[in-house]
Amino acid sequence: MGFAIAIDGPAAAGKGTISKAVAAHFGFAHLDTGLLYRAVGAKVLAGADAIEAAQNLAADDLNDDSLRTGDVAQAASRVAVIAEVRAALVDFQRAFARRSGGAVLDGRDIGTVICPDAEAKLFVTASAEVRAERRFLELQARGADVTREAVLADVKERDARDMERAEAPLKPAQDAVLIDTSNMAIDDAVQAAIAAITAGRES
Ligand code: CDP
Repeated sequence: MGFAIAIDGPAAAGKGTISKAVAAHFGFAHLDTGLLYRAVGAKVLAGADAIEAAQNLAADDLNDDSLRTGDVAQAASRVAVIAEVRAALVDFQRAFARRSGGAVLDGRDIGTVICPDAEAKLFVTASAEVRAERRFLELQARGADVTREAVLADVKERDARDMERAEAPLKPAQDAVLIDTSNMAIDDAVQAAIAAITAGRES
């Protein structure tokens, strides 16, 4: 029997870094589920139909640096409101969560919809301003031509769309441990996540 860790939260809260570190700490596999929606969004930007793209997604579609741009993030959150798109991606995520060696999945609905029986659930958040600043520095380091204002607007728009949608809206599972990383260095956030999961495992 595997051990599933669900890590949810809004854009740029630190989920990605925390999930990778948690997976490395426990020796588990990691799936960034946002990449699935980004890959579908990228195909829609290239002219594909969203539902068909989701139903025919291949592993290779996820290995693409261009999925990290702001335009693709926006396209991802637009396709993520479509029930058929979400439905097409459920089985893959659930199978990944239940792989024998243990799994960490990060996203928006892992603890609530994909894996409500996950052995550990975290909800990682931070203020919109802090998240936008982190994402701005990340995009800038990658050479993107962006402004702080545009990144903050993008983060707020996606948060609203993700929280207000009917299908699998972004919200903490009732039994999730909340970690607010607004005033934490990323290393401390990683340590807090590992401590919360370890405490849950031992209780
Ligand atoms: O990296 P960041 O947190 O900015 O975004 P992401 O995790 O790559 O997700 C991109 C978009 O995909 C989100 O804004 C959501 O609309 C959608 N998404 C979702 O609906 N459900 C998930 N489990 C993961 C992502």
